[in-house]
Formats: sequence, C-alpha cells, structure tokens
Amino acid sequence: MSLIIDNLKTAINGESNAKRRYELYAEKAVKDNLPEVARLFKAISIAEGVHIKNHLRALSVISGSDISDNFIKINENELKNQIKDTKTNLMDAISGETYEVKKMYKEFLKNSKKIGNDIAELTFSLARKAERIHAKICSKYLKLLENNKRIEFKEIYICSICGNIEFEPLPMICPICDHDQKFFMKL
Ligand SMILES: [Fe+2]
Ligand SMILES: [Fe+2]
Repeated sequence: MSLIIDNLKTAINGESNAKRRYELYAEKAVKDNLPEVARLFKAISIAEGVHIKNHLRALSVISGSDISDNFIKINENELKNQIKDTKTNLMDAISGETYEVKKMYKEFLKNSKKIGNDIAELTFSLARKAERIHAKICSKYLKLLENNKRIEFKEIYICSICGNIEFEPLPMICPICDHDQKFFMKL
C-alpha cells in the first residue's frame, strides 16, 4: 500500500502547486487585460482544490489516520518565476494538464487498479478526467487568443465533487462524476 500512499502524496503536492500557479496565472491575465482568461484560471484553481480535497480524504482513509500535510512543498518564488505572458501561461497550463492525464494519473491509476484499491482508483480517475477537460478548455481559449478573437463572457461552474468545469447551460448531471447539477459551484 505504500506505493499508493506515495502516489497520493505526489498527486496532492502536484495539485497544490498547480492550484497556486493558476492563481498567479489569473493575476497575470488581469494585468494583461484578459479578464475572461483570468476567470478561467480562477475556476481551474478551484477545481484543483477539489482534487486536493478528494486525494486528502482518500489518503486519510487508506492510511487509517489523520495525515499531516507537511509533504506539500510550494516554492512561491519558483512559481512566480514561471509566470509569463498569458498566452504562454495557457500553453504551459495545457502541457501541465496533459502531463497529468497522459503520465502522472495514468500511472497512478494503473497502480491503484493493480493493487485493487478502489478509493485511490476513484479519486485518480475523477481527477484525470477533469484534467482532460481543463486542457481542452485552455486549448480553446488559446486558439481564440491566437486568432485575435474576443472571448465572450460566460458563467463558469466547477463541480464540487470532481473538479469538472462547465459553462452555461449546465448539464443536468455532471458528465464526469454523475452527480446532480446542484453540486456545481458558480464562480
Ligand atoms: Fe487541472
Ligand atoms: Fe462532477
């Protein structure tokens, strides 16, 4: 089980850094006069918070005790140095999300299946599906920016169960976690 515990800790640390990075991306997008991109980054940062919460819960159930979070290492200066112009930040976001989908969560999911740990499997699988959506929306926004098209204002919603992101009109059921529409939080 120690492999799964390690994987959960790695995922929580990665998500915690991603959450902070998205907050910084959002601040930069405001400065770049791209408020709609800022709102998207803010929404994704909240979504990463959902993953952190789910992974922490899984970790405490699996390890059978309250866990300290001293394995989370956030280097604020290092993160700040990684912030570039908003277009580049969108590209970096896409590659970060894609890494999580195609490498990190793919591997962690395989490990949890092999060991037969349903709790870890569920939290990794939900996060992986949500990251795929995050990458997709960032790609869409990037394309609009590259074509000098205006990004329309749309209400953004975050699924409080899985970290999925949807726009209006909201689906009746979250397509990732199957929970009712009422579990979506409006940004
Ligand atoms: Fe994400
Ligand atoms: Fe969901």
